[in-house]
Amino acid sequence: MPLLSLLNTWLIDQLGHSILLINMLDPLETIVATRSERFRNLFRSLLSQAQSMAMFPYSESEIYPRLALLGHETADVVKRFYRYVETVTRLYRKRQVLNKTTLRFLEHHFSETNYFLIKLSYYFPDIQPLPDGGRLYQSEDDEGRPHSRDAKK
Ligand SMILES: [Fe+2]
Repeated sequence: MPLLSLLNTWLIDQLGHSILLINMLDPLETIVATRSERFRNLFRSLLSQAQSMAMFPYSESEIYPRLALLGHETADVVKRFYRYVETVTRLYRKRQVLNKTTLRFLEHHFSETNYFLIKLSYYFPDIQPLPDGGRLYQSEDDEGRPHSRDAKK
């Protein structure tokens, strides 16, 4: 798969995850929402750069230095978002974030992100996949129900 196709495909996924994270929150969770919106904005910017580059009348090798920068900036934001979703998952487990989703939704982000970083490291060997391999959080029996104001309805 050409690098730009990889970036476009997976940036859509990461952008989608950031939007879902925002949409799952109870309206009172404005701090988590604001932080999530920053990631959504970064992913939107990276995706629009990747989409623009895909339309350039140049080969990937001709624009390689700029493409390499995009690849590394993407890896950086993806890793920071991964750590952020870990933080939100911790809050979820402690029932400290009101939301309308299940833990499984948050957890699927980890394995997908790690897969993306492994693919990206084929192009840029200096990009390291995550040390925990995206498996830091395994599903537990107590996962499942969202902690929201609607939960008791
Ligand atoms: Fe996904």
